[in-house]
Amino acid sequence: MLKILFFGDIAGSPGRKAVKQELPKIMESEQPDLVLANVENLAHGKGVTVKTIEELMRAGIQGFTGGNHVFSKKEFSEQALRKYSELIVRPGNIPDTYAGSTAVKIETAKGSVLLGNFLGQVFMDRQFPEAVSSPFSGVDEWLNSHSEKFAAIVVDFHAEATSEKIAFGYYLDGRVAAVLGTHTHIPTADAKVLSQGTAYITDVGMCGAAGSVLGVKKELSLKRFLTGERVAFDIPEDASSAELSYVIITIDEQSAKAISIQAVHKIVGLR
Ligand SMILES: [Fe+2]
Ligand SMILES: [Fe+2]
Repeated sequence: MLKILFFGDIAGSPGRKAVKQELPKIMESEQPDLVLANVENLAHGKGVTVKTIEELMRAGIQGFTGGNHVFSKKEFSEQALRKYSELIVRPGNIPDTYAGSTAVKIETAKGSVLLGNFLGQVFMDRQFPEAVSSPFSGVDEWLNSHSEKFAAIVVDFHAEATSEKIAFGYYLDGRVAAVLGTHTHIPTADAKVLSQGTAYITDVGMCGAAGSVLGVKKELSLKRFLTGERVAFDIPEDASSAELSYVIITIDEQSAKAISIQAVHKIVGLR
């Protein structure tokens, strides 16, 4: 049995602190074979950098997924996506002019795991600067081009609309071991194994500051809603507690199908 731990969107330093603090305890109790995380908001809430990815690698995270914000630190993000192209997967249904890999293969004690990342199209048009092509036809092509045998295929579906997310889950049922929703930062209570053996959740949730709006300072978010002004968002760096959201999936590595998925959502005090 292959056990995979996946953290939802890690949002800035409160998210990184929460993961670094809690991961040793989770490792001890769960003993996963592979630890993954969505990192589109890793560096101060938007994008990845070499420094922040290395910080998580030292903490024990072995593979990373992206999203609409993964490139937001411009050349710093591109540098990280190139340097760690064997560990970080960026969305597969965006123009191939973007830096980074669209598939990552990670060796575990139980066999090779293929990791993919796709963006949704519904309500996402203002959240990514270029046209996003269909994740449905995109994932078909992607699976065709990675047809070798894997112990598990894990797809992070980074999307806003719950309907598009569950439809994508059914579309991939039996073809991948897990479809894990990310992006909204709000965990959903619908973790389940679909009828053909795919573990599914609409959204894993985030690892980020508690008492925030999706990881950013609530006062700034409120100001934007109250005034309609384009307020620059910021991370509450001094947060004393954080939300920690992750899933634990068990997979039969022979059939590459899921046995179980458990979603965890908790608030942890930051030391
Ligand atoms: Fe996010
Ligand atoms: Fe996102």
